[in-house]
Amino acid sequence: MKKYVLFLFSLLTLLCIVTGCGGEKKADGPKVLKVGTEVTFPPFEFREKGSKEISGFDMDLIRAVGKKLDMQVEILDMDFEALIPAVKRGNLNLVIAGMTITPDRQKIVDMSEPYYESGLSLVVRKENTSLQKPEDLKGRAVAVQLGTTGEEKAKQLAGDKVRSFKTNEEVFQALKEKAVDAIILDKPVAQYYINKHHPDAVIVGDTFAKESYGIVTRRHGELTPKINKALAELKQSGEYDKIYEKWFGKEPAKK
Ligand code: ARG
Repeated sequence: MKKYVLFLFSLLTLLCIVTGCGGEKKADGPKVLKVGTEVTFPPFEFREKGSKEISGFDMDLIRAVGKKLDMQVEILDMDFEALIPAVKRGNLNLVIAGMTITPDRQKIVDMSEPYYESGLSLVVRKENTSLQKPEDLKGRAVAVQLGTTGEEKAKQLAGDKVRSFKTNEEVFQALKEKAVDAIILDKPVAQYYINKHHPDAVIVGDTFAKESYGIVTRRHGELTPKINKALAELKQSGEYDKIYEKWFGKEPAKK
């Protein structure tokens, strides 16, 4: 009798393992979206003081996209310049990092339809009145984040005195310590840093050329059209606007 019970029990256990025993997991396996970003880019992606969680406009947007795709979003913080190579290698499914859509990047990876209109701006110390426009940068030391469009622009305008840092915190620190005279950085991010942490800095002049942010996926992968569809649906349903308003207020959404 004892043997019989034991046998039955083992049989049940085996059945349980094979069928998944009523677990939540669907038959087609785990569906996790591995999302890469770089967290010194508020209010798009950043760690709130004392919090481990990564928040921001991009993060809310990609979580909403994940819901649409019925996929769980896992966010990974990496160096900005490592993001595209990681998508290429397949270590990440996508990148959302305030990343500007450029022809050069589009040769290597797919980029979604634009989800935010942005532009680069020039930041200086308040007391420095000699730097007002892009032409004034010639031969000046300019701080930028490594691998960004700001770095590219700075090299065009300032030449070889550009100093590239891994994080935007270091970029602002360099300005504060007078290691550089200026910063070139995406305007909404520059504005955020100035308002929250660096009241002694100021944006001067107009934004440089317009830039649009896109979500990065593997070249010719099956994910790109799905992302575009999800983005379009979020814009249509008003969910995009809600997320936008949470981070940027009631100004017209820059889709
Ligand atoms: N928009 C700029 C670029 O594409 C800067 C993006 C930096 N993003 C970040 N998460 N640090 O190069």
